[in-house]
Amino acid sequence: MNNSSAKRLSEILAIEIRERYGVDSGEAVRAKIEELILSDTSSSTFDQYVELSKTKNHNALWQKIIEKITIHESYFQRNENILNAVAKTVDEILSEKKTLRIWSVPCATGEEAYDLAFIVAECVYYQNYGTKKLNDKLLEDLSLDHIYIYGTDISETSLKYAKLGQYNDLAMGALRKLDPVRRRYFFNQTPDYYEVKPKIKRMVKFVVTNVIDPPLQSNFDIILCRNMLIYFSDEQKKKCQENLAKALVPGGRLFLGSVDPFLLNPDDFTQHTDDQSIWYQKK
Ligand SMILES: C[S@@+](CC[C@H](N)C(=O)[O-])C[C@H]1O[C@@H](n2cnc3c(N)ncnc32)[C@H](O)[C@@H]1O
Repeated sequence: MNNSSAKRLSEILAIEIRERYGVDSGEAVRAKIEELILSDTSSSTFDQYVELSKTKNHNALWQKIIEKITIHESYFQRNENILNAVAKTVDEILSEKKTLRIWSVPCATGEEAYDLAFIVAECVYYQNYGTKKLNDKLLEDLSLDHIYIYGTDISETSLKYAKLGQYNDLAMGALRKLDPVRRRYFFNQTPDYYEVKPKIKRMVKFVVTNVIDPPLQSNFDIILCRNMLIYFSDEQKKKCQENLAKALVPGGRLFLGSVDPFLLNPDDFTQHTDDQSIWYQKK
């Protein structure tokens, strides 16, 4: 295939991607798709790309493009002011009811979903034992069966890493802002990496989902959606937030990234400001 056909095809697919997956079809996205098409040299693959926009379902080739164009950077305790506001909310909800359902979307390689698990484990620990000083034996004995945390993302590759839960100390890596106390109590250390302890891993279920599709569940108490909508077109930002709103229980709370605009009907939500972060409660 010549460069101009690849360019034309990448433009068509980029528009389709915006509709299906939200990711806006900027120049950088188009260039990445073009590069992918040109690197797939067999003519049968080229025909598959041509057919792709007519293929209704998500398939392996769509997945390959998605993996190429999405950005999966994440790290523990990212934008901590928002997580501090989440921690207060968790404490408030668990003082009123036993079960708690939280959705981290998108969770990329798992850091945000595990941060939520640490926050909840610390809160349950404090509520059960009346102390914030962690202890291995008490942590091991802590019952967390009533907590359901989902981490979802469109990227299958990222979710494979998330499930492994192994992170290392490379420069600008996932652990760069991790609190030493959390590192000590919630990870096992090996010579090559730190691995999230099994007890914490059991709290989180990782599943592939597309935020543009209807949500899997509609009973979440808390949803975190950070550092994804900046890549979306305005129309798809709104569609994504409508899906998140459907996934919340009445009274459920939505935490967005610090730069994300809130695009839902303000009459349906109460806005709260806490620790320099804004979050929204469904009426
Ligand atoms: C920069 S990461 C953000 C991860 C985490 N929330 C954080 O703040 O560190 C953006 C993630 O959005 C995911 N993503 C992009 N489009 C998506 C979609 N339509 N549905 C679900 N996840 C999507 C990407 O795969 C990527 O892992």
